[in-house]
Amino acid sequence: MPDGSSQVDPSPVTLRTLRRMARERAPFACLTCYDATTARWLAQAGVHVLLVGDTAAEVVLGFDSTVHMPLDVAIALTAGVKRGAPRTLVMADMPFMSYQADDAEALRNAGRFLTEGLADIVKLEADASFAPLVRKMTRVGVPVCGHVGSLPQRSGLTGGYTSRGRSAADAQRIVDDAKALEGAGAVMLLVEAVPPQVAAWIVEEASVPVIGIGAGPACHGQILVLQDLLGMTPWQPRFATPVARLGEAIATAARTWVQRVAQREASAHAYELAPGECLPIQGEQPRSSPAGIGSTVDAPDSAFPKRAADET
Ligand code: KIV
Repeated sequence: MPDGSSQVDPSPVTLRTLRRMARERAPFACLTCYDATTARWLAQAGVHVLLVGDTAAEVVLGFDSTVHMPLDVAIALTAGVKRGAPRTLVMADMPFMSYQADDAEALRNAGRFLTEGLADIVKLEADASFAPLVRKMTRVGVPVCGHVGSLPQRSGLTGGYTSRGRSAADAQRIVDDAKALEGAGAVMLLVEAVPPQVAAWIVEEASVPVIGIGAGPACHGQILVLQDLLGMTPWQPRFATPVARLGEAIATAARTWVQRVAQREASAHAYELAPGECLPIQGEQPRSSPAGIGSTVDAPDSAFPKRAADET
């Protein structure tokens, strides 16, 4: 399990790791992630599971709903995350209409997430009616996480994202969904936006790891949308208290860049003409660099290999 010093314990996070942690009641940490660079940092911090969520439609592509997530983009982003964090379990969210219309198409799309997308597991927003599809997927070797409770891909039906399971009848429905999906072979469950008692009930009934989002502390693993956790989104759901104000930090850094550009301090470390070369125009002499300009934040070599251009 990566713990920030992956050299010490380089074993990859697998389903087996998560099953053991669930058995031992050691909570595991999951976050959404959509790119290789961020994936490297999150892996280095010891995050166990990276979900390439269809929330990419919102936080990466700027749509107002996850239903807009394009399948090919989701597959490409998933592969990027896995390349950035090869030893972390990477879960791919199957986008709206990539698995609902037709089982054969769903199987082929799930297969693409594993082969082209390098995913370790796919996640479907599902209720018990999807159990036959989950059975077909697991029969051919696709590991499936069944996402129950609040299902954002159905938010069009309710007019927005909503919580679920707040009545005894609805709680029972969600527990039944979870049981049906596990019974069909789902190797993991994710439960979203339900009262903690409902999640605890699912954990009690399930024999696979259960990840929660806004579902209370009983779940074996916990997940948030990364941009919510980092304080980059304009608002966060009530269960996603940010631990940083990265949005403001980015704006401050960008303001500094705007100033540097305006003051012609950008690109202070310029390349030099090869010895003996001269040009018909006399370029402006580079200014000497003020303290800090051009310096880079120290990053561990293993996490951030130098780009080729840096070597020359
Ligand atoms: O797409 C996503 O990010 C998700 C999480 C909210 C669990 O499904």
